[in-house]
Amino acid sequence: MSIRETEDKYLVPTYTKLPLTVVKGEDVWVYDDEGNKYLDLYAGHAVCNIGHSHPKLAKAIAEQAKKLIFYSNAVYNDTRAEAAELVVKNAYPHSAAVFFCNSGTEANETALKIARRATGRPRVIAMETGFHGRTVGALSVTGRQKLRDDFPENLGQFTDFVPLGDFETLEALMGPDVAAIILEPITSVGGVRVASRKYYDSLRELCFGNGTALIFDEVQTGFGRTGKMFAGIHWNVEPDIATTAKGAAGGFPVGMVILNEAIASAPAPGEHGCTFGGGPLAMAAVKANLEVILEQKLVENAAAMEVVVRDALGAIPEVLAVTGKGLLLGIELECPAKGVINALFDQKIIVGGCDRPNMIRLLPPLTVKEAHIKQFAGALAEALVQAKQTA
Ligand SMILES: Cc1ncc(COP(=O)(O)O)c(C=O)c1O
Repeated sequence: MSIRETEDKYLVPTYTKLPLTVVKGEDVWVYDDEGNKYLDLYAGHAVCNIGHSHPKLAKAIAEQAKKLIFYSNAVYNDTRAEAAELVVKNAYPHSAAVFFCNSGTEANETALKIARRATGRPRVIAMETGFHGRTVGALSVTGRQKLRDDFPENLGQFTDFVPLGDFETLEALMGPDVAAIILEPITSVGGVRVASRKYYDSLRELCFGNGTALIFDEVQTGFGRTGKMFAGIHWNVEPDIATTAKGAAGGFPVGMVILNEAIASAPAPGEHGCTFGGGPLAMAAVKANLEVILEQKLVENAAAMEVVVRDALGAIPEVLAVTGKGLLLGIELECPAKGVINALFDQKIIVGGCDRPNMIRLLPPLTVKEAHIKQFAGALAEALVQAKQTA
């Protein structure tokens, strides 16, 4: 059987896949099993912020593996201590402590639990276009109707959904029983959307005034993706809890819940845990990943490359708008995105789609350079002309 046939036979069929078998990656490139090279402007799903298989990350994982692969949080560990300090010192100004887990969903589940523990309240306000994961707790604050309708047995009775950016509606729902407001500060799969500075400021003030925890789901926006280390820094708005995962360890599975001083002591010893969270191998990856981001100035590069993308796409008439920040960008087209994404794939360029049918999502490694963006812009212009001709 071929690789694809074997996967299709033995894996639970929860994913729609590209017709691509990736066997190797290097920086912004991935290679298939026939040696073809693809420009990956999707970073393995917004994960490989430092590029694929960065040598420093590979070395750190290999060296830690020879020393100690795992011991749980029942003991102290040198690599965990170093990683925790590095993360907390590079997160928000008032970040005080981090809880390590294994995924973005788990980080959000943990954040909701901590917010409820800290406030003693049940309700949560979330965004209609938000995505926070697919397990019961995370699903119950995920706004995408289809995902919740498929599994109505979630905790949705404790959640109110509001449109991102509509402060009045949200304010009207606020009350003494609201434990948390959870949102992606810049929505991704729900359509790349950013609210106004005033909106984020108002959310922050409202949460302070009501004793409600503000949770930023930075699973995608964390670790430099939007041109700041964490997205709230764009507006100088700090959440009480930031969750993050994808870009947190260069592809090694790690989730994080970063808490400010006020909330850091909410969970008492024994109230929460995660066997693999904070394991030494994962922590070596966290440390190396963040060191690369800092050493190679990838946050700054993400901000600089946003300007290059906007300039290059500004010259294409079929591109109606570019939304988002840094290298989490939505490209709104005058035609459906699906055919264009396929045409780009035929030209060996990988980009993503989202819930908005006319939008392409760009989530490249933060190491991307001007030449790669020019290559993409040329291919996009060509694909859009073709799409017009076949329409
Ligand atoms: C904003 C956001 N939150 C949560 C998740 C869930 O993360 P994971 O798949 O690591 O559980 C995702 C995944 O796409 C996401 O984009």
